Amino acid sequence: MSKLKLWENYQLVGQNRLAPRSHFDTHFVDDPEHLRNGQLLNGTWQFKFLAAPEYAPQDFAAPDFDDQGWAAIPVPSNWQLQGYGKMHYSDLWYNFPIIPPHVPSENPTGLYRRTFEVARIDPNEQYLLNFDGVDSAFQLFMNGHEVGYSKGARLTSEFDVTPYLQAGTNTVALLVVQWSDGTYLEDQDMWWLSGLFRDVHFFSRPKLGLYDLQVRTYLQPTPHTAELVVTPTFTGAADRSVTYRLTDGKTTLFEKTLTGDQSLDETVADIVPWSAERPQLYDLQLTVHVAGQPLEVVHQKVGFRQIEVVGKTFRVNGQAIKLKGVNMHDYSPTAGRVMTRADFRQNILLMKRHNINAIRTAHYPKAPFFYDLCDELGMYVIDETDLECHGFELTNRYDWISDDPKWQLAYVDRMKRTVQRDKNHPSIIMWSLGNESAFGDNFRAMAAYCKTVDPTRLVHYEGDFEAEVSDVYSTMYTWLEHETKLTMNQILEKTQKPHILCEYAHSMGNGPGNLKEYQDLFYGHDELQGGFIWEWFDQGIATQAGDQTYYRYGGDFGDEPNNANFCIDGLIRPDGRPSTALTEVKKTFEPFQMTLVDRATRQIRVINRLDFLTSDDYTFDYVLEDNGQVVAHGPVTVPTIAPREAAVIKLTADLPELTADHLYTLHLRTKQTTATPWADQGAVVSQTSLTLQRPVVRLHHARQQAITVQEDAVTLTLTAGANQYRFDKVQGSLTLTHAGQPVIQDGLRMNFWRAPIDNDMEILDDYYHKYFMNLWHESALDTTLTAEEHGDYRVTVEKLVGTTNSGWYYAITQTYTIHEDGSFDFAVDGTASGKRDCAPAMLPRIGVALALPQPYQRVTYRGLGPTENYVDSHQAAYLGVFETTVDDLFVDYVKPQENGNHMDTDRVTLQDGQHQIDVQMTTPLNFSVANYADATLEAAKHTVDLRPDDTVSLYLDFKQNGLGTNSCGQNQLQKYRCKFDDFHFGFNFNVRDRG
Ligand code: GAL
Ligand code: MG
Repeated sequence: MSKLKLWENYQLVGQNRLAPRSHFDTHFVDDPEHLRNGQLLNGTWQFKFLAAPEYAPQDFAAPDFDDQGWAAIPVPSNWQLQGYGKMHYSDLWYNFPIIPPHVPSENPTGLYRRTFEVARIDPNEQYLLNFDGVDSAFQLFMNGHEVGYSKGARLTSEFDVTPYLQAGTNTVALLVVQWSDGTYLEDQDMWWLSGLFRDVHFFSRPKLGLYDLQVRTYLQPTPHTAELVVTPTFTGAADRSVTYRLTDGKTTLFEKTLTGDQSLDETVADIVPWSAERPQLYDLQLTVHVAGQPLEVVHQKVGFRQIEVVGKTFRVNGQAIKLKGVNMHDYSPTAGRVMTRADFRQNILLMKRHNINAIRTAHYPKAPFFYDLCDELGMYVIDETDLECHGFELTNRYDWISDDPKWQLAYVDRMKRTVQRDKNHPSIIMWSLGNESAFGDNFRAMAAYCKTVDPTRLVHYEGDFEAEVSDVYSTMYTWLEHETKLTMNQILEKTQKPHILCEYAHSMGNGPGNLKEYQDLFYGHDELQGGFIWEWFDQGIATQAGDQTYYRYGGDFGDEPNNANFCIDGLIRPDGRPSTALTEVKKTFEPFQMTLVDRATRQIRVINRLDFLTSDDYTFDYVLEDNGQVVAHGPVTVPTIAPREAAVIKLTADLPELTADHLYTLHLRTKQTTATPWADQGAVVSQTSLTLQRPVVRLHHARQQAITVQEDAVTLTLTAGANQYRFDKVQGSLTLTHAGQPVIQDGLRMNFWRAPIDNDMEILDDYYHKYFMNLWHESALDTTLTAEEHGDYRVTVEKLVGTTNSGWYYAITQTYTIHEDGSFDFAVDGTASGKRDCAPAMLPRIGVALALPQPYQRVTYRGLGPTENYVDSHQAAYLGVFETTVDDLFVDYVKPQENGNHMDTDRVTLQDGQHQIDVQMTTPLNFSVANYADATLEAAKHTVDLRPDDTVSLYLDFKQNGLGTNSCGQNQLQKYRCKFDDFHFGFNFNVRDRG
C-alpha cells in the first residue's frame, strides 16, 4: 500500500493517549468541595481554517507563534456552524470515494490555539488534558511540544501534559482534520460536522492516586440486599489504603478500609435498587491514603441493579422490563452537535414527562454528564459506540472493513474506550457495538471485549442479524404486516433471545402511525421488550428570514448529494417544542391504562404497566367536561395494583345529572402523589378520556319564506332568505352567497388528494407520475332540480371524476337539499368505476374541499381533539368540544405537509364576527380547516415559504388515509387504508347572521 498519512493510518488508534478510564471527580482531602486543579478550557480560542493539514505553518503550535491574524472561535463548537467549511447532510453516503483508509487531500482543517494559566506545578500531581469530542482526528501540542494524536470523533481522549507544563502561561494548540481513516467508521446519518465540539478540560490527579475504578453490583435473593464490588486501579507503586464509605446522602450504610491492591466486596442491606422508575443513587466515597497520609477523596455514584438473561427475556432486577425508548443524537438547531449539560437535562426531563424510560445513544457515546443525568433521572441506556460504516452497503462488500482483521484494532479500540469510560453508570444496561456496519470478525472481537471486561451488561448490535454475539435479537423498523418482509410475528416465531426494536416508529413529518399496535404487541409478549423510537430531535438548522425563523435541511446549503429532510424525523421540533407524535407517545407509554368494562355500573379496568412501582405511588382522579367545560372533578379510589397487574374498579363519584344533547367527556387521570426529580407533585402521567354521553345530531328546519327558483340554459338559482344558491349546470358546481357576500365558490369539489406527508414518500412517485393523483378532472353529466316536501328543493348533480390518463374513476352523485331556513343538506355517493384494478392501493383521502372567505377564523368543533389525529394515530385525542382558531389548528411541520385533521367530528362552526357557518353531520366525518390550501402546503419546502391564502380551506372527509411510518418502515396497515371503494357521506351546511 502507498504511504499513509498520519490521519490515514488506521492501524494507529492514537499516540500517547492515556488508557481509557472511568470519569470521576477527584478532590483534595482538605478541600472536598472543589475539583482538583481543574479548569474548563472552553471559551474563545484562536482559529485558523485551512484546506488541508499540510498547509499548517510549521511552528503554529509554538508559544511565540503570532496568531494575531487568526479568527476567534468558541469552544465547544462545530466549525461549520461558525462559518467555516461546508454544511452537508447525508444519510449513508460518504462524502468521498471509498478507498479505505484514504481520504481526500482536500481535507478541511482547523488549527486551534489558546493559553491558560497554571499558578504552580505540584511535583506530586499528574496534569491532564481531556477532550470529550473532537471531530474527527487531531494532534495535540503543549507549549510547542507535540503531546500526541487521537481520533474517534465522539470518544474521550486524555493526555498527560505534565512534562510540557510550566508555572504561568501555557499554550495549547491542536490541529484537527475533518477527514481521517476514522471517518470510515463514522458514517452516521447526520450532518457532517467538525471541530472541538465538546468540553476541553484541564485538571490534575495525584500521581499515586486512583487512576480508575470499576463498580459492580449484584442483587441478592434476600430483598433489599446487594453485593457491591469495587476494583480500584492505581498508578505508581505505594503503600496505599482505601477507605470506602457508602451513604444514601444522610446515613452511612458501611465504611471499610482495605489496602490498595484489594477489591471491595461488600454485602449491603437495606438498599433500594436502582431502576428508571426509582433511580435511587448512593454516594460511594473513597479516601485514598498513601503511607497513612490522606491523598485524595473520590466520589462515585452507585446504583444497585442487576441485568441478566433468563430464557427469552432479559431482566433488570428480576423483571423483564419494557423499554419505552427513543434514539437520541447530539443536536442543537444553532450549534450543530454541541449540547450542554443543561440541554441534556431539559431533554431528559421532557422525555421523562412523556413516559419515556430509555435512550439509545444513537450512534455514538455522549459527553460524560449525559450518563450522570440518566443515572439521576432514571433512564435505561443503550450506550452505543462511535461506529458506523453504512456507505459500504452500496459497494457489495458491506463487511469490507468490518471483517478485515487489519481494522480490528480500530474497531475494538472504540468499544474499549466506550466501556472503560462509562462502565460505572447504573443507567447503562447494554453496550452497543455500533450501527449499520454489516457483521464480521471485528464485531465478534468487540463483543468478546465487552463480555470479558464487563459481563454484567448485555451486548447489543442490530447488524448481527442472527444474534450470534448480541445478547438481544435487535431489529429495526420491523413491519407489522407484509407479504415478503420480516414481520413482528415472524420474529416471535423465530427468536431464541429477547427482542428489541433498536429503531422503530420513524417520526418524520406527520406521524408515526401504529404506535399503539407496536405497544400492544410488546405488552402481549414478555420476549418483546420494547424499542426505541427514531428519533428524538428534528435536526433542522435554524435560519433567520426577516423576523421568521425556519429550519434548513439537506440540500439547502448546496450540499450534494443529500438526503433532504430525512434528518427532520424527531419527536420534538428543532426549537424543542413537542410534536403531536410526542403527545401520542406519552399516551401510548402511559403507566396506567384504563378501559371501560361496563358503562352502566361504571366499572373500569386499570392496568399497571410499570415494572417496579405499585399504584400506591400515584393518585387517581376524574374530571368531567360538559360540552368542553369542566363541571365536576374529584378523587377516584384505586386499590394497590402491583406492577404489571390489573384491577377492576367501580367509579363511585357522584356525577351530576346529564343534560340531553350535551357531550360529556370523563377524564380519568393518574398523577404523581409526590414530586420526583423529573416532575412536580400532581403531574399527570396518564389520562384516559371516556365519552359518557354523545349527543345525536338532529336537524330541524323551520319553515320560512318560500324558496324562489330561477333557471336558464346554464344556471339554476335558488333563493332561501338571505342565502342564494347558484348552480352552474355546465360544471355541476355551486356558488353560495349570503346577503350578497360570497360564502362558497366553485363548490363542492370532490377531493381525493392531500399535501403529501413524508410517510407517503415511497408512493409519491407513483402518485405523481403513474396515477396523477394530484390532477383530477370532473365531467358533469347532469344537473336536475326537483321540488320536495316542506318547501324544500333538491338539486342533483351527476358527474364522473377521475385523474389524468386513468381508466379508473368515481361515478359521483351529489345532492343538495335546500331548506327554507337557508341551509342545505349535502349528500354524495361515489361508485368506484372503470378499470378498477388500475387504481392505486390507497387514496390519500375521500372528501370535499370548500374555499370559504378569509375572515372566518374562529372555529368551534365537536370531534376528536385537541391534537390533530388520524386513523392510526389518535391515542391522545378525545371527543370534546373545542374552541380555537384556524391558525391554532395548523401544525407547522418543518417541511409543510398535510396536518391538522380531526376525526369523528359531527359539528364545526366558523365565525367571522358577524356571520356564522354551521356544519353538522349526522354521521361524523374528518375535518380540517386551514389558511393554507393543500396546494399551498405542497408547494412549500419550508415554513417560511408559506403565505396565507386569501380563502380559508375547509376539508370534510369521509376518510383520510392512515399515516403509517413508511418514511422508514411499516406503511399504512390494511385496516387503516383509504381504498378506492364506494362511499357515501354528507352534512348540513348553513350560513347566517350572528344574532
Ligand atoms: C436507520 C439508521 C438511522 C437513521 C434511520 C432513518 O436505518 O440506523 O441512523 O438513518 O434509519 O432515519
Ligand atoms: Mg445509517
